[in-house]
Amino acid sequence: MENAPKDAERALIEAAVAAMAKAYAPYSKFHVGAAVLGESGRIFAGANVENAAYPVSNCAEASAIAAMIFAGDRRIEAVAVAGGKTGDGTLCTPCGACRQRLREFGAPDLRIHICGPEGLRRTFTLQELLPHSFGPDNLEA
Ligand code: THU
Repeated sequence: MENAPKDAERALIEAAVAAMAKAYAPYSKFHVGAAVLGESGRIFAGANVENAAYPVSNCAEASAIAAMIFAGDRRIEAVAVAGGKTGDGTLCTPCGACRQRLREFGAPDLRIHICGPEGLRRTFTLQELLPHSFGPDNLEA
């Protein structure tokens, strides 16, 4: 299958699914897990962290990216995001703000694996989810 994840990305998908259980989402009750593969080969996971002041909430992708940066990696090689109910077929794609967050550290061909609790549902590239994007290269002199 053309979009089948590489073997190295299978662990990434498992990490995103496992991270769903760590979500703090008492308001939406929508648990999301995310995992990013850094250039060192390490996987960094995160979950959504909501707040009684709703807009202050963090998405799972933002949590995973923050963990990666704090650990010293600066490039995202692949991403997995997991959300929804088992077998419901919906796609928990990154929100617009998180697409831009991924753009900061990922190439246009960055593979973004969208998962449910049961595993992979569909794979997109960053270019597909955020075409004609604005990124760090736009600011180069
Ligand atoms: N959410 C994420 O963490 N990532 C996504 O890709 C989509 C949405 C969170 C934000 C909020 O805590 C909850 O899901 C419902 O929107």
